[in-house]
Amino acid sequence: MSGLNQVWSDRQGAMGNAALKIADHPKIPPGQVALVVAELGSEMAAFKQFDTAVHDLSLAIQSAALEKDRGRAIASYQQMVGACLACHASFRQRVSTVLNVDPLTMAE
Ligand code: HEC
Repeated sequence: MSGLNQVWSDRQGAMGNAALKIADHPKIPPGQVALVVAELGSEMAAFKQFDTAVHDLSLAIQSAALEKDRGRAIASYQQMVGACLACHASFRQRVSTVLNVDPLTMAE
């Protein structure tokens, strides 16, 4: 346990920075957003909810790291990874298919 605590106390700055990079990730180009909207239709709201959850939880990790609140950082991290995986389980395959079609040949 003291080993884990040591890692935590050494790494909380790095953890906060990494979490901030998730929150500040580059925006998807508008053309790709349009393809996703066309594919998901009314399910877009659920897709967006996963995106917002990951965004908010990454900020929660960062603030917990800044406040040196290890328990909250770990809990937020676990929730965030859960939201990553939930979006992948629901949408990744379909979205990946529409995004990776060659626009000239329409071949995947
Ligand atoms: C809102 C839905 C959503 C959320 C939330 C999400 N992903 Fe994804 N992710 C996708 C989709 C869709 C793809 C496939 C994109 C493609 O094929 O171009 C993907 C692809 C990936 C890939 C493969 C990248 C590649 O080049 O093929 C990785 C790694 C990944 N996600 C990690 C994560 C992690 C880590 C998180 C949480 C911090 C996360 N994702 C959250 C939807 C999501």
